Formats: sequence, C-alpha cells, structure tokens
Amino acid sequence: MTNDAPGKIHRSGSANWSISSDVLDYAKSLIPPNGRTLETGSGHSTIFFAQQGYRHTAITPSQDEVDRIKAYCASNGIDMGRVDFMVEPSETAMPRFEDAIDFFLIDGGHGFPVPQIDWYYGSKRLKVGGVIGIDDIHTWTGKILVDFLKRDPSWTQLETIDLKTAFFRLNKPFVYQEWDEQPFVRRKSKQIIFGRKVRRFGRRLVRGQWGGLVRSFLRSRK
Ligand SMILES: C[S@@+](CC[C@H](N)C(=O)[O-])C[C@H]1O[C@@H](n2cnc3c(N)ncnc32)[C@H](O)[C@@H]1O
Repeated sequence: MTNDAPGKIHRSGSANWSISSDVLDYAKSLIPPNGRTLETGSGHSTIFFAQQGYRHTAITPSQDEVDRIKAYCASNGIDMGRVDFMVEPSETAMPRFEDAIDFFLIDGGHGFPVPQIDWYYGSKRLKVGGVIGIDDIHTWTGKILVDFLKRDPSWTQLETIDLKTAFFRLNKPFVYQEWDEQPFVRRKSKQIIFGRKVRRFGRRLVRGQWGGLVRSFLRSRK
C-alpha cells in the first residue's frame, strides 16, 4: 500500500516542521527491532516510529497534532496500537515517564531550559547503549547541550546530520554530577572565574587599592 504524504501536521495544519527522512533512517539503524522509543514533540517522526512497530511514546502539548497523526495513520493503514501520547508540555510530563528506553528524540520545545529538562529526565530512562537524537542544534539551547555532551565521557558522539541533528550514545548509567565534575561546565566556569579575577585586579589597580592587590597576589602564590 502506498501512503499519502502526511502533509502539514503542526500549527493547526498550517505548518510542516517535520524532521528529515535522513534523520529518521539513521535513527532506525540505531534502534533494535521492537525497541522502546520516546520523543518530545510529534509529527512525521511519530508516524515513522509507528510504522516501524516500536513501542513508542510522543509527548506534545498539542491535541490537534495528535488528532491529525491518528487520522493520517487510520486512513493509511498504519497501526498505532503500540504508540501512546502524553498530551502536555514535556517539562511537566517527563518526570512521570518511567519506562526504560532504547532511543529518545529531543524535538519538542526549544526554549531554555526545555531541551535540557528533556535530556535530563530522558537520560535517566535511557538504557546503557541507548541513543539520543537532538534536533535543531542551530538553536542555542540545542547547541549548548551538544557542546556539553561532546565533553562528557558518559556519552559517545555519533553522526550529526545536516548540521542540524546530533546523535549521542550513553556509555554508562546516567548520573547527575555537580558542576565541577562536569568537564564542559568546569572548563567554561574556569574561564569565567579567570575573567572575574582579571577584572577585579584591574579595578583595584585603577582605584589604587594596594592592600587588596597584595592580598590577591599572596593568595595566588599559595
Ligand atoms: C519541530 S516540531 C516536531 C517535529 C516532529 N519531530 C516531526 O518530525 O514532524 C516541535 C514539536 O514540539 C512540540 N512542542 C512545543 N513545545 C513543547 C513542549 N514544551 N513540550 C513538548 N512538545 C512541545 C510542538 O507541538 C511540535 O510538535
């Protein structure tokens, strides 16, 4: 059976924000048959996951998107029996999602800190060896997540497709670490701390605060 194109699913049927088929094909190559999958956001990707027969959950605040996806699948013979939806923003839904997952597509809200919230709760549920895909890494919130993961030894970077979607594999059970144990945050923070020292030194110099200058010089030699 040849399916119709799903058409516009987003913004009440007036927009198509679908992820590329290259991304979905690559995701498929990483997911075991019968895999347990999760995505934030919904659309063409949800239809694709349903077609593969994965046990899939999509989290979106839009009931309209869910209705369009279900209508498309019903009229094209796509079984949605293994797909469910959490119809609410991921920042409230993710803490309640408890299944162990093989793959997680982060493509919901892109405002700060929603991708970070998705990543945090999703990583807690990701099996070791499981993969996350982060879409729209040209937005700052996506890019900062990628920069963080690139330097974290718990993750291995896989492909990045079209400079837009990055994939990472989890190497060991996810644990939250304090800032000074997170290589990216530690490095960025050290730059900020150094910059603050330089500015404070300059300010004391300009103000002739010699006592403070001597004290910080002595401290720096300890
Ligand atoms: C770029 S689209 C997803 C495209 C989809 N992956 C596809 O292939 O068609 C972004 C999605 O995020 C949803 N969204 C917006 N804010 C959200 C939030 N706070 N939590 C979860 N989903 C959100 C939108 O309703 C939309 O479904």
